[in-house]
Amino acid sequence: MKKSILIILSTVFLMIITFFCVDDKSKIIPKANNIVTDAVLFSLITESGYSFYVGTPSITAAKGNSPHGYERVRFNSIAKSALDSSGKLPKGSQFPKGSIIVKDIYTGINGSINLYAVMKKDENSSQAGSNYLWAEYDNKGSVVYSINEKGSGCISCHSGGASRDLVRTFDLN
Ligand code: HEC
Repeated sequence: MKKSILIILSTVFLMIITFFCVDDKSKIIPKANNIVTDAVLFSLITESGYSFYVGTPSITAAKGNSPHGYERVRFNSIAKSALDSSGKLPKGSQFPKGSIIVKDIYTGINGSINLYAVMKKDENSSQAGSNYLWAEYDNKGSVVYSINEKGSGCISCHSGGASRDLVRTFDLN
């Protein structure tokens, strides 16, 4: 009698363990500081909790030598915490690790989003270029510019202008 209870208990125990292990694997939720793939970064930019930049309160025409069209810039809460009362990153300041800055790019002034340009502060990542992960996605999440390029097509242009941790919009909008 005792033996069969033991067998039943250990079988149930094994089933529970198996269930949770399998379940865990299918449910790995990316942590903001643990970027490994373009897909993980895309999932982070579709989360809630972003605030629009006050300089682009609605869809705004591109400024300066921006290669993109109509835009709206938004910050995750970590990035937002570095902004001053005017909504800008003070000159000479740095965004903290985990900051995400997204430029939603629109087809026109009354258009829809057709591209996302992304910068994520992640200075310890091997995929970072000048301390950021750089990526672009179309509106369905397909990769247009991979983080594995390490910002090679982005950094020289973003290095122009005042020193605001490579973010250009503050001095243009
Ligand atoms: C030819 C210059 C140029 C290149 C190349 C470029 N950018 Fe930009 N980018 C800009 C400018 C200028 C702005 C600000 C535009 C504005 O405010 O209208 C900007 C804005 C942004 C923003 C919003 C934050 C900010 O800095 O204002 C993101 C995010 C961004 N770019 C990502 C990228 C990524 C990713 C790449 C490479 C795949 C890239 N950019 C390549 C010039 C460039």
